Parts: sequence; structure tokens; C-alpha cells
Amino acid sequence: MVTAAPHLYPHQWSWDAAFVSVGLAHLSVARAIVEWDTIFGAQWATGMLPHIVFADEPDYFPGFGVWGTEIAAARPDGVESSGICQPPVHALCIEQLVAIGRAQGGEAAERADAFMADAVPRLARWHAWMSRARDREGIGLVEIHHGWESGMDNSPRFDPFYERIEVATPKALPRTDLKYADASERPSDREYQRYIHLIDQMIAVEFEDDRIPAVIDFRCGDVFMTASLAASAEALARMADETGDADLAATERARAEHARTAVLASVDPTTGLCRDYDYHAGHHTDVASIAGFSALICGGDDAVVARQRAILTGPQWMGHPDNRYPLPPSISLDDPACRPREYWRGPVWPIMNWLFAHCALQQGDTALASGLREAGLAQLADEEFGEYYEPRTGEPLGSHQQSWSAMAALDWLT
Ligand code: DGY
Repeated sequence: MVTAAPHLYPHQWSWDAAFVSVGLAHLSVARAIVEWDTIFGAQWATGMLPHIVFADEPDYFPGFGVWGTEIAAARPDGVESSGICQPPVHALCIEQLVAIGRAQGGEAAERADAFMADAVPRLARWHAWMSRARDREGIGLVEIHHGWESGMDNSPRFDPFYERIEVATPKALPRTDLKYADASERPSDREYQRYIHLIDQMIAVEFEDDRIPAVIDFRCGDVFMTASLAASAEALARMADETGDADLAATERARAEHARTAVLASVDPTTGLCRDYDYHAGHHTDVASIAGFSALICGGDDAVVARQRAILTGPQWMGHPDNRYPLPPSISLDDPACRPREYWRGPVWPIMNWLFAHCALQQGDTALASGLREAGLAQLADEEFGEYYEPRTGEPLGSHQQSWSAMAALDWLT
């Protein structure tokens, strides 16, 4: 498997690996499919794709032992994984992988088609799990129980959720990440205490989907996860059309519509941005972040999309006068919450640029897609493949040689 990064992330992360497979497909479709053997091989009996599949590499915290998933009945025997999920970009990435394979023709195309037929039912189980276990109240927003599920770990969008968590007994934190990235670029110990606390709450109910909502301190209706599900459900519906599964295609189109409706219903009429939902407080939250532009991921309402596009490309985000490159930071530089070096609290993330560009292309917005591609490639021309970048200076931060940043360059260049 391709690890998310050489030192900082020495295992397979679910959405990282899905994206990476798109880059690998340009080099070898057969090799790209190997990534999916691990992703799907770790699929829980419930349908969930876990966010980390652990390699035999002890230098990571929290490792398999801390996760405590050996007690989870749904985890496949012999596969060491975490017990939470990540954004459902998988179908969207497989559709792209297959397109790349078909364009190569011959054996690559045959392999891609055979792989698609095999992947479709697994993706269907994954999406069905997400609707069943994470949309229990039918609001339509995918419910997450940990910031790590969003992939945007410490984004200020989760501050209202984390602030209310009291950790009665702080634990020792062997922060292996700080060996490989500067502490100013990573979440704080205070944040990590809460991260571990949430894992412990899931362990207490043996990671059972039906029992988690009653015990977990973090219940966020995540608008970005939901938009990703809508985009992926559309991709899966198109693949189901091709494999001749009309029922699945209809199910996935309905799933996409349900998710899109929830994303659009979350839009704040004042700011024009999408908002997460706080299940414990019973209302939407109002933190502006890159996730606020989720309508650009799933589309569905031309007026909302046009407004979000104008804000995203405008002077507070991509067009900010202090930006080194016209790319969207994770938090606007004008926002007092922005910390331009700190993980999801401000930096520019190459993989977000790729995802927004991909979805813009899907929706026919070639101008936005090529703007993101050009600026994204200019940023990655340093060949450091930073995990994230300082928006004003373009300095690579976090891990270098981050595999999904390399994938963005590879896909854009081929
Ligand atoms: C980390 O270790 O920072 C990861 O984002 C957790 O999934």
C-alpha cells in the first residue's frame, strides 16, 4: 500500500488512498487497483470503510492498540484498522481511475472495467452504511463523531463541538507526529486529549453504530462529508448504469438528491455559505471555512453555486491580495480564527484544490477548474509535495512528500 506520507502517516488512510489511486492509474492501472485491495479488504461487516488500515509500523500515535477496535465485532478478522470513517470520495475516485484506464486502452482498459464491476457492490454497501448509520434522523447531513472523520481534523468549524468536551482524566500523549512536523503546524495537546477521549467513548460501546450516538460528545452533521457523498453517489449511479444495475443506479441517485438537498438547506442566506449542524445544540453552526463551499462539490442549485463561486474566487479567499498563489486557504486570511501555518486552521491544501477542480469540471465550470489547476501546479512546482502550504509565502508545511499532493500534480500533468 502507499502510505499517506513517509514518516508522519506511515499507514493507509482511506481517503488519501482513494485519491492516490487516481495518480497511480496514470502509471499503472494494475498498481492502482492494489490500493483498493487494502481499502476494500478492511471494509467492516456493516459496510463502513475504516479511516486507517494499519501497516506493521509502530511509530504512529494513536496506533491500533489505542484504537481498541479488536473488540469491534464488525471489523474483519486479521485486519488492523481504526473504528471511524473518512469522507466518501471513493466512488468519485474509482470513476476517475476507470476513465484513466479506459483511455489507455488494451489490457489497462480491461482491468479497469473488471475492477469497476467488482467495486460497485462494495461501494454500494459503503454508501448504504453511511445513510443508515450516519443519517439516523433523516436530516440528510452525514453525522460524524470525530473531527478525524471529516479529514479536516482541527478546523475551527469543529471548535464549538470540541469546546464542550471536558476530559476528566488527561492521558499521556506519545505525540510521534511532533518528531516529523513542527508543533506550530499540528494540533495542540489539548486537542489531542479530546481526540483520544472520543475514541474511548466509542470503545466503551464496542464501536457499535446503534450505541455510539447516545454516548458520544461529538455529533456534527458534516456538510462537506454530505456533499462528497452526493458527488460520489452520482458517480456510483453512473457506474451502476454501466454494469446494468438499474435498481442501484436509482438508489444512488435518490441518495445523491437527499444529500444535496441537505447541503443546500444548510446555506446561510446572509453569508451564502454551507453550514454544519450541531446535533447536541440542535442548530447549524456559523464558522466559515473551506467546507462552506460544499455546494461547489455537489451542485444542485445554480444561484447558490454562482454565489459560492463568486465568494471563493473573490478577495477573501482565492483572490486575497496577500495570497502567494490564487488558491483557497482552509480559513480566509481575513478571519480572526485563521492561523496560516496550523494544519486545517488556515493553510492551503493541494488535495482540496484538486477536489474542487474535479467537481468544477464535472459541473462544466472549466474556468474554475483550470484556474485551480494552474495555480495548484505552480505551487507544487517546488517538488516538495507539502501536505499543506502557508497561503501568503507558499512555504510547504506539515509532512513533505505527502502522497495525495503528489497525486494532484500527477493527475493534472497527465
Ligand atoms: C493524524 O494523525 O493527524 C490524522 O489526521 C488522524 O487521522
